[in-house]
Amino acid sequence: MHERFDPLATDYLADPFPILAAIREETPVFYSSELDMWPVTRHEDIKRIFTDYETFSGAITQTPVYPLAEEAKDILAAGFHTTPTVSNCDPPKHTRVRAHNVKAFSARRIAVLEPTIRAYVTEMIDRILHQDRFDIVQEVTFPLPATIVFNLIGFPESDMEMLKGLAINRMAFTWGRSTEAEQVRIAKNQVDYWQYCTEFVASRLAEPKDDFTSDLIRTHLADPDELSVDEITNVVHALSFAGHETTTNVSSSMIQRLLTHREQWEELCADPALIPKAIEEGLRFDPSLFTWRRITTKPVSIGGVEVPAGAKLLLLVGSANHDPAKFPDPEAFNIHRSGAQAHLTFGRGIHSCFGAPLARLEMQIMLEELTARMPGLRLVEDQDVQYHVNACFRGPVELWLDNSAHR
Ligand code: HEM
Repeated sequence: MHERFDPLATDYLADPFPILAAIREETPVFYSSELDMWPVTRHEDIKRIFTDYETFSGAITQTPVYPLAEEAKDILAAGFHTTPTVSNCDPPKHTRVRAHNVKAFSARRIAVLEPTIRAYVTEMIDRILHQDRFDIVQEVTFPLPATIVFNLIGFPESDMEMLKGLAINRMAFTWGRSTEAEQVRIAKNQVDYWQYCTEFVASRLAEPKDDFTSDLIRTHLADPDELSVDEITNVVHALSFAGHETTTNVSSSMIQRLLTHREQWEELCADPALIPKAIEEGLRFDPSLFTWRRITTKPVSIGGVEVPAGAKLLLLVGSANHDPAKFPDPEAFNIHRSGAQAHLTFGRGIHSCFGAPLARLEMQIMLEELTARMPGLRLVEDQDVQYHVNACFRGPVELWLDNSAHR
């Protein structure tokens, strides 16, 4: 019945939740011939899929959802040499590489970033404090996570603008349906980005410093069989994306929800101790990896539906997080909700997001500073919020805020 389910349809992008509620109720797991994928919508099923890595492989997580043009494929084949290392890699390789990543992504490395994050947020707010209107995506929620993850990796500050430019539109490339000309342009950017990562890792190999990449290099130098230079380059490449658009989109959506439910925004301004709960509800309500993928390694029954081996699964995390079987009154945005942290926004199991503490810290500081310094913020009325046109990452392209209360 939902054969024609289209994750790029305009009404779905604007508000997917009523459509997902109907699908979840009527056909929670089904085959879409249009997509050649099996959408899965229930919390219970998606959680099980995330945790059973032997039946549900991550091999396709980074493969373009829609076919690429030949010219774009040729450009990638000539210069974009990533190999499965992180989210699209299965054990045993994944287990070995992830253990080193988690070690290098230590609580210490995150904790020392706290003052840096606060300094960047303060500077960003200084720039907008006296403006009547601004786009919070452009001013804060996009630049902050990008700057912080690049800083953590060790990319020099002077390269940041160039890197952000190269990274732009990757969402549309892998998860959307861009035109042939756009694909060619983005493929060239991807090659340049990969080249940059290769040269950057080589520079840290020659001269390690005090950053995440250099920690991985030290592991390599101690035992090259434990972690190769190619694996480190792949990790750096993956991390620079994984820690970037994800946090941008959740943060923008969360600010939108809080200002739409203004009484909850005001509660946060009055009592910042509520911020961690608001963050969990924001993560539940608007996961930025709105869908994710797996491929079955053998025939399996999912929610009572028989699925063959080699089936591509489209895990609708946005639906799981609004499943009434798990979250009572799921369409109500409520920062006081108990049990919001049962969301699947950071995945589960062997691939679960090890950047979650950093993402939460960035959102905490953003909300602390915005509520303290700009309590009068409102959404610009009647704006037509547009969402990124792709099948995975969900978040507003722009979000205009009214700060005329500062006058
Ligand atoms: C709100 C922001 C974020 C969201 C919603 C998010 C979401 C996710 C999800 C759903 C996964 C699981 C993928 C899978 O099962 O295949 C994942 C994995 C991952 N995340 Fe995040 N993430 C966020 C922030 C970050 C940050 C800040 C970093 C690092 C700086 C990061 C790095 C990673 C990495 C490297 C993986 C792959 C782990 C593995 O395969 O072992 N993420 N993330």
